[in-house]
Amino acid sequence: MDNEILHGLLNATQRAAIASYEWIGRGDSKAADAAAVKAMREAMNAMDFDGRIVIGEGERDEAPMLYIGEKLGKGGNAVDIAVDPLEGTDITARGDYGSLSVLVAASRGMLLQAPDTYMEKIVAGPSIGKKVSLALSAEENVKAAARALQKPVSEVRVTVLDRDRHKELMASLRKTGCRVMLIRDGDVHGAIGTCMGTSDLLMGTGGAPEGVLAASAIKSMGGYMEGRMVFRNNDEINRARKHGTPEEIIKGRIMPMDDMVKDDRSVFIASGVTEGSFLKGVQKSCGEAEVHSVIIRGGSVMFVKNSMRDAI
Ligand code: FBP
Repeated sequence: MDNEILHGLLNATQRAAIASYEWIGRGDSKAADAAAVKAMREAMNAMDFDGRIVIGEGERDEAPMLYIGEKLGKGGNAVDIAVDPLEGTDITARGDYGSLSVLVAASRGMLLQAPDTYMEKIVAGPSIGKKVSLALSAEENVKAAARALQKPVSEVRVTVLDRDRHKELMASLRKTGCRVMLIRDGDVHGAIGTCMGTSDLLMGTGGAPEGVLAASAIKSMGGYMEGRMVFRNNDEINRARKHGTPEEIIKGRIMPMDDMVKDDRSVFIASGVTEGSFLKGVQKSCGEAEVHSVIIRGGSVMFVKNSMRDAI
C-alpha cells in the first residue's frame, strides 16, 4: 500500500477518535458512534483512492454512512476497507477504558465479508500460536498455553467479555485455576492485548466484524486466532449468504485467521479514543488534540503520536 494511502487512512482513524472524544463520558453511545462515522467517512472521501467498504456500519438500507459496499475516495488504487469507527461505543459513553477507532485496509477480496453477527474466538500471542484451538476444550487450551509459556496454569491470563452467555466458559476456565480477566466491552482491544503482553489468551463470543479486524492485527504480529460464526437467527444466515459467506463457514467450520485475512499485506490502524492498555486516549490542551495511534502490518508495529489543530 502506498504511503499516501496509508497516511490518509491514519488520518481517518485520528479524525474519528477526535470526533468521538467530544462524547466521552456523556452517556450517549449513538451520538459518539455517529460522530466517529461522519469524521472517518469525510476523511476517506477526501483521499485519492478507490475505497470500498467490506465491513462497515451495516447494510445500505440501515446505515446511511460507511455501509457495506459503499465506495469511498476520489479514485485511484483499489482498496478494501473494514471499519469500526468507534470500537467501544458504550465504553466511550461511560468514559471507560479501551475504546478505539479502527480500520483494516487490504487488497480487493482479501478480507472475509463477515456479516454483522457473532463469532466465537480464540486468540493467542506468538509464543502460544497454533497450540490452542476452538476444537479443544477451555481446559485443554489453558494447559496448552501454560506449557507453551512455561508457567503454571495459575498464571495464565484469559481475557473474556463479561456476558451471561460466557457463564459456562468462565466456570470451566476458573476450574483450571487460571486468571479470568473480564472486560465489559472492546474485544478488538482485548485480542490485541494477547500480542502486547497484557493477557495470554482471549476466548469467547463477540462481534464477527470485530473478529476480522482483530485477525488482521494478530496475523501481522505473529499471533494466532481462530473464529467460528455464531448466528442468532435466520435473517443473519440469509444476510451471510447474500454477502457470499461460504456455506461451510455458515455451518460452523472453524476458521483459522488466514480464512479471515487471506494475504499478508493487510494493514491494521487504530487510534485511541479513551485510555487503553497499548494506546493513550485523545488528549486536548491549548487548542490542540493529541492522538495516539498504532499501525500494524507485515510483522511491524508502529506507534504514532500526532497533534492536530484543524480537526478540533
Ligand atoms: P460496539 O462498540 O460496536 O458496540 O462493540 C463493542 C463490543 O464490545 C465489541 O468489542 C464486541 O465484539 C461486541 O461489542 C460484543 O457484542 P455484545 O455487546 O452484543 O456482546
